[in-house]
Amino acid sequence: MSPSPQTQSLSGGDARPVGGTSRPIRASASAARPRSGVERWMAPAKIAAFIAALYPLARIVFFGFTDRLGANPIEFITRSTGLWTLVFLCITLAVTPVRRLTGVNALLRFRRMLGLYAFFYATLHFTTYIWFDKWFAVAEILKDIGKRPFITVGFAAFVLLIPLAATSPRAAARKLGRRWLTLHRSIYAIAALAILHFWWMKAGKHDLILPKLYGAIVVVLLGWRVAAWARAKWFAARAGA
Ligand code: HEM
Repeated sequence: MSPSPQTQSLSGGDARPVGGTSRPIRASASAARPRSGVERWMAPAKIAAFIAALYPLARIVFFGFTDRLGANPIEFITRSTGLWTLVFLCITLAVTPVRRLTGVNALLRFRRMLGLYAFFYATLHFTTYIWFDKWFAVAEILKDIGKRPFITVGFAAFVLLIPLAATSPRAAARKLGRRWLTLHRSIYAIAALAILHFWWMKAGKHDLILPKLYGAIVVVLLGWRVAAWARAKWFAARAGA
């Protein structure tokens, strides 16, 4: 359905009153403003994304109930949650480049949810290890870290994720201002640590196909970011000159 002229004048863009004066209409009538197509689809799309992101958890639960977690269920859950943490980290990092390339700004509205899912699966991964694998036995954990130092790297990534999750609400972003942006850039360091964690673990098994694949994805996403930053700096310098 195409919007009426009155609707068009109230929905942004070249907002002019129908009566013909040249003063733009202020957004005081926002309550009466009809929702755009994107707005109308946003709530169902968010619910769909929320449910889809529960798939890895549902899969584990389903496999648990149908006795399909294999000979070592703890190992299965640790590996599955670890891999899905990495997947959600990569998807979160891809939001901005995909938004820029496609011009679909609405994608930004999913980023927080995706980042929180990365944290959710990281918490499950960590809890599975510390609780169900090691039963909080500190001596056991230290012995394991001595044998498999890649665990320390995963732990560092997890610790760095905590402040990002804690400051994800909009109110925190408003309060922190520019510092929020600086803090949230640590997601690239977290992704790099996650790759190192994965790579190190798989190097011991001489199976580097997946770490190489995810490593390449993170390098491309980080490279894109660095290129965008360098371009912005160059344009700013030119504008200054
Ligand atoms: C952002 C944080 C983390 C990410 C992205 C991550 C990711 C991963 C990935 C992708 C794997 C390999 C899965 C596979 O084999 O397919 C893995 C394995 C593992 N991770 Fe993490 N991890 C993180 C944090 C942690 C933490 C905090 C711990 C424990 C303190 C941990 C302990 C382990 C262990 C023990 C394994 C190996 C499981 C096995 O040998 O079967 N990880 N992780």
